[in-house]
Amino acid sequence: MIKVGVLGARGQMGSLVCQTVRGADGLELAAEVDLGDSLDVLEGCAVVVDFTRPDAALENLRWCLEHGLDVVVGTSGFDTDRLAQVRELLTEAAQQGDSTEAALPKVLVVPNFSVGAVLMMKFAEQAARFFDSAEIIELHHPAKVDAPSGTAARTAAMIQAARAAAGLGASPDATTTEQPGARGASVAEVRVHSVRLAGLVAHQEVLFGGSGEILTIRHDSLDRASFMPGVLLAVRRIESLPAGLTVGLDSLLGL
Ligand SMILES: NC(=O)c1ccc[n+]([C@@H]2O[C@H](COP(=O)([O-])OP(=O)(O)OC[C@H]3O[C@@H](n4cnc5c(N)ncnc54)[C@H](O)[C@@H]3O)[C@@H](O)[C@H]2O)c1
Repeated sequence: MIKVGVLGARGQMGSLVCQTVRGADGLELAAEVDLGDSLDVLEGCAVVVDFTRPDAALENLRWCLEHGLDVVVGTSGFDTDRLAQVRELLTEAAQQGDSTEAALPKVLVVPNFSVGAVLMMKFAEQAARFFDSAEIIELHHPAKVDAPSGTAARTAAMIQAARAAAGLGASPDATTTEQPGARGASVAEVRVHSVRLAGLVAHQEVLFGGSGEILTIRHDSLDRASFMPGVLLAVRRIESLPAGLTVGLDSLLGL
């Protein structure tokens, strides 16, 4: 049995993770932690899953690393700067614990657990070098506290890396005057537009434009249940990953 701890256990995602882990073969829900609870109950867990808030997840991660626990991070907001902070935490953990790199805990940061969304990002990465322009529209429920979404930020970074490798610069844009925000946020040189609308769950469109053609890659998460197969895969397979930081489910999906 793999002992699983859940941080953010009373939240929308965390409570569904708890329910899913309870019903999953080979997994035991060993600890449920939410705001104000002691983290000590997580000791003894083989893996901790964090679905809290962007401003809380890094401190939770610090605690887990200090206690040698493997962590699956589902909380959004892990952009390039924050991933650099995760690497620093891992370095600190190695120094404090006097561990070799191979003995370090495993941290799997997953911007999106939906298999469809992972494929959307992969397809976007593949398409990026063929088009002059790329922009992203992400659309979410209005209770989401961070913008743009972690998925959009990760997609932008993947597109930018693919464009840079192909020798492409920024997308053409002649805008010289604009209302603040009208052109969205520039994330890794890709414009990202965030929509917050009642009735939505989690959706994203990646638009590519070239001479006389547009390619749109769209993914829709219609229910939080779409994230659960990815969460279970992460929990079951994190021990097979290299020590330290891994970003995304790609390697576990064989992509
Ligand atoms: N990676 C993915 O596929 C994916 C999918 C959906 C949501 N998310 C992200 O997951 C996070 C949670 O989403 P949600 O809809 O469940 O939010 P939510 O607000 O319903 O739940 C967050 C929970 O975390 C708790 N919390 C806050 N600070 C805490 C702390 N320091 N320690 C323990 N618990 C704490 C809150 O009390 C709350 O119960 C968000 O960042 C969201 O963007 C990621």
